Amino acid sequence: FRVLRFLWRATYISILGGLVYGSYGIYLNRHPGEQAEPDPTKKTLVVLGTGWGSVSLLKKLDTENYNVVVISPRNYFLFTPLLPSCTTGTIEHRSIMEPIRNFLRHKKAAVKYYEAEATKIDYEKRIVYINDESEIKGATTTNEVKFDMLVVGVGAENATFGIPGVREHGCFLKEVSDAQRIRKRIMDCCETATFKDQSPEEIKRLLHMVVVGGGPTGVEFAGELQDFFENDLRKWIPEIANNFHVTLVEALPQVLPMFSKNLIDYTEQTFKEETIEIRTKTMVKNVTEKYIEAEYTDAAGVKQLDKIPYGLLVWATGNALRPVVKDLMSQIPAQKDSRRGLVVNEYLVVKGAENVWAIGDCAIANYAPTAQVASQEGAFLARLFNQMAKTDEIQEELSLLSEKQAVAANKELRDGIFGDIKELQKRLRRVKQMGPFEYSHQGSLAYIGSEKAVADISWFTGNLASGGQLTYLFWRSAYLSMCFSTRNRVLVIMDWMKSYVFGRDVSRE
Ligand code: FAD
Ligand code: NAI
Repeated sequence: FRVLRFLWRATYISILGGLVYGSYGIYLNRHPGEQAEPDPTKKTLVVLGTGWGSVSLLKKLDTENYNVVVISPRNYFLFTPLLPSCTTGTIEHRSIMEPIRNFLRHKKAAVKYYEAEATKIDYEKRIVYINDESEIKGATTTNEVKFDMLVVGVGAENATFGIPGVREHGCFLKEVSDAQRIRKRIMDCCETATFKDQSPEEIKRLLHMVVVGGGPTGVEFAGELQDFFENDLRKWIPEIANNFHVTLVEALPQVLPMFSKNLIDYTEQTFKEETIEIRTKTMVKNVTEKYIEAEYTDAAGVKQLDKIPYGLLVWATGNALRPVVKDLMSQIPAQKDSRRGLVVNEYLVVKGAENVWAIGDCAIANYAPTAQVASQEGAFLARLFNQMAKTDEIQEELSLLSEKQAVAANKELRDGIFGDIKELQKRLRRVKQMGPFEYSHQGSLAYIGSEKAVADISWFTGNLASGGQLTYLFWRSAYLSMCFSTRNRVLVIMDWMKSYVFGRDVSRE
């Protein structure tokens, strides 16, 4: 009985403690303290972008060591792994957005933020040219920002390979606005298909949802869309049940090429059960308003061009360079052979440019363009910059001590200073001993629909490949724990519960 009483009290106290701690955390979050003003004598560090790379850098950076300026057209961080869920309303987009202002307001020293796009980087003059691309324009819309150190973390844009019609008729899936557009179009297709006296061919076309690109973006979206149909659309709009159809088109022989063979097979099998059609070895060559033209090789080995009508086209064929990155590369002779991004050395310094670093999807460091890589690179740079600031501080102290030693009145004093110098030099060596960037791969995860996921996890010395519903629970908890803030976590959980209990919202907005 005494043990039970003890356990009860311990639980009670820990719950109470948790509540107090949580409330205090929320209070601190809502009431940020005073921030140190930027110090103009310090170096100006300009960070471009508010995505995975840049935000991870800003999170760990001691901002009091630099004058930090952040430039990005997006004044929030977006948790991209859950973006496919926003296309069907499983998760509301604001649940995976974190305002950059709130986050920067909690740094020790103030950080300047400009909502603007970097249009050009002059790495020799050390100037970034910026442009306000937002709807509301002030009297000034363009300007220049000088830097001593620059981090380019602008990500990538959508690859179209110059295929005609993609930009005009397809939807991408990279930003919040893309997810909103897709969500609206899904419902528009369904409602238009049920318009009075719509012809059978037109109904079929409108309800044909085509996804181009069998990488993780395309696969996750196709899975989410089929879930939406099975769990909600089919119930609320039964007229569309026989014609709603999802097709995934991929140029390579398989989808999800970065996953192990058994998980690729598992995904393809699951898609078959979900009635998602996969068309591999099929390369889209042209896009018109109502159909795509795709090339495939028939059984006789002859190339054929197929016209595939569609209502919704989602284009997910990977990344391409942003214009500002292309322009910077064209200025640097050492970058002239690179096609995929800014080539960096093992400390993420842009080759051929001094005091310019690149991270994430716009940098080429021999890793896949993923959030995992970008955030590890950002964290590495934060450590590097914190160390560099410490090094500068120690070097300043050292030169002061050397001056003092030179004018010291007697030997005893000189010896004392000599001891201090030795100690500082030892510290300097320790601080300078930072190794190069090393990526640690934690694994790959992807949702494939019907509450199933696939995971290739790095496990001690080997690799653990698993797929199914348990993996789906793991997928959910992993992404939940990776969400930017507690607020995001709470909102995502609430969205999951809401769509589970009430179903997804099928209004078109
Ligand atoms: P981003 O996160 O794209 O950020 C770029 C930033 O730069 C943005 O803030 C942008 O507004 C800003 N910017 C753009 N142009 C300019 C400019 N000219 N000047 C200044 N700023 C600019 N990876 C995973 O590891 N796991 C996943 O599960 C996963 N899921 C994904 C799901 C989807 C739908 C997508 C699209 C991607 C997913 N990724 C995932 C990939 C991951 O999102 C990217 O690799 C990651 O976002 C790259 O980070 P980044 O910082 O380089 O770029
Ligand atoms: P991707 O580059 O991984 O895949 C694009 C696919 O499109 C390729 O398989 C390519 O063969 C195919 N393709 C290209 N042109 C085509 C055409 N004309 N016709 C038909 N198919 C064509 O791109 P994705 O999925 O957008 O991912 C981009 C990056 O983001 C990747 O590095 C990926 O790993 C990462 N990511 C990771 C996720 C995860 O880990 N769950 C989720 C989403 C993205």
